[in-house]
Amino acid sequence: MPVPGPGYSITVRLEAPPSASAAGDLTSAVGRAGGVITAFDVVESHNDRVVIDLTCNALSANHAKDITDTLETLPGIVVRKVSDRTFLVHLGGKIEVSSKVPLRNRDDLSRAYTPGVARVCEAIAKNPDDARRLTIKRNTVAVVTDGSAVLGLGNLGPAAALPVMEGKAALFKKFAGVDAWPVCLDTQDTEEIIRAVELIAPVYGGINLEDISAPRCFEIEARLREKLDIPVFHDDQHGTAIVVVAALRNALRVVNKDIKDCRITVCGVGAAGSAIIRLLQAQTPGDIIAVDVDGIVHRDRPGLDSNLKSIAASTNKDNQSGRLHDALVGSDVFIGVSAPNLFGAEQVATMAKDAIVFALANPDPEIDPMEAQQHAAVVATGRSDFPNQINNVLAFPGVFRGLLDAHARTITDAMLLAAAQAIADVVDGDRLNASFIVPSVFDNTVAPAVAEAVRKAATS
Ligand SMILES: NC(=O)c1ccc[n+]([C@@H]2O[C@H](COP(=O)([O-])OP(=O)(O)OC[C@H]3O[C@@H](n4cnc5c(N)ncnc54)[C@H](O)[C@@H]3O)[C@@H](O)[C@H]2O)c1
Repeated sequence: MPVPGPGYSITVRLEAPPSASAAGDLTSAVGRAGGVITAFDVVESHNDRVVIDLTCNALSANHAKDITDTLETLPGIVVRKVSDRTFLVHLGGKIEVSSKVPLRNRDDLSRAYTPGVARVCEAIAKNPDDARRLTIKRNTVAVVTDGSAVLGLGNLGPAAALPVMEGKAALFKKFAGVDAWPVCLDTQDTEEIIRAVELIAPVYGGINLEDISAPRCFEIEARLREKLDIPVFHDDQHGTAIVVVAALRNALRVVNKDIKDCRITVCGVGAAGSAIIRLLQAQTPGDIIAVDVDGIVHRDRPGLDSNLKSIAASTNKDNQSGRLHDALVGSDVFIGVSAPNLFGAEQVATMAKDAIVFALANPDPEIDPMEAQQHAAVVATGRSDFPNQINNVLAFPGVFRGLLDAHARTITDAMLLAAAQAIADVVDGDRLNASFIVPSVFDNTVAPAVAEAVRKAATS
């Protein structure tokens, strides 16, 4: 059951009579409409009326409108204005550039800019590696998208993707001190994207690809990795894979199973699912059964693209065919990065004893976590209103911090696994249980631990 949350939070500015009962009438009306009041502020007071800012959480934009309509029907209430607090946060964008050097007088100017800067330019021209020492390159990452797979919303294009990329940049700075900048490209042509990233690369110490749809994202990442001398990381693939592997490591500790004995069903073989499968394979699990919208991926299935062909060749030892429900029978682990509401408690009951269910489709998981809990020993989702949230924020800031600090030119599976291990290890044995397999995204020890692990892996 979804609950009203801060993602749909409104502030209603309204006029009310100055009577003793007005506040009670307003709060009861919001409660009746299903909203949750989070603030009640009197912003003006007069003999004949008060002006109130009433802030409340709703379930959706439509629900917020219903709450406002309910308030408007109360006697003596005049709604002046409704502010969507999420939109307020985004007004004018969420990030900015600020200068690190003083620019108070001619002296400062002559060194930070011309004529002094010319000597620094010449030094870099002579020794290009100095760019990491003398420019923003050492701490700067491009967050590159074509807007083709924005969150779960689909192909919204580059301008509409910008609020997500700004948010990502803000998270990079907050959690790891990395200066990331959105680069939203007005093309969805694979060759143009590759060329554009190649052309801007001199400025950056790393490229974070974001919200680029599968299967194009595989080729774009692979080709950029070949061409560039800085690490290229598609967060929807590898950020997810790192956190899933970390969470699975701890979930297996909870149920006392070894991954080498586990049959793992991965539902969804797009950007996230393919990367999860590949990172899991580095740990030689008992078997992986991949399932997509057309059922179990097996070697004889017609119409497999090159990504699915390689997955089919390296998973599903018995070449099983069928649907998701068939794959689940006897599985120790379910990892879903696919679509909402695909199965129920009765299918979890067919899984092995002490089953682990990671239902990560957003915003609605493959199975209602409350149903999954009826038979599974450990349940995780992508949602913040349940325990065990699988969230890429646990990985990408620390990963890039480590890569930048190591002056890494590439990224390897060993670094991804080191990051996963570091996240898992933040949850020590005293705190580990079925409801706490991953640390909180606000645990400020996570990013430094991940950074250190990646830095070590990059320099060893
Ligand atoms: N919680 C997290 O950390 C996290 C991270 C990444 C992705 N996700 C979620 O995972 C989902 C997939 O993301 P993606 O970027 O890999 O998308 P994608 O479009 O690249 O891949 C989707 C995959 O799901 C499969 N699929 C779709 N409908 C299906 C069905 N009915 N039955 C079985 N398989 C089905 C498709 O065939 C495809 O293989 C999204 O809901 C996304 O929000 C969550």
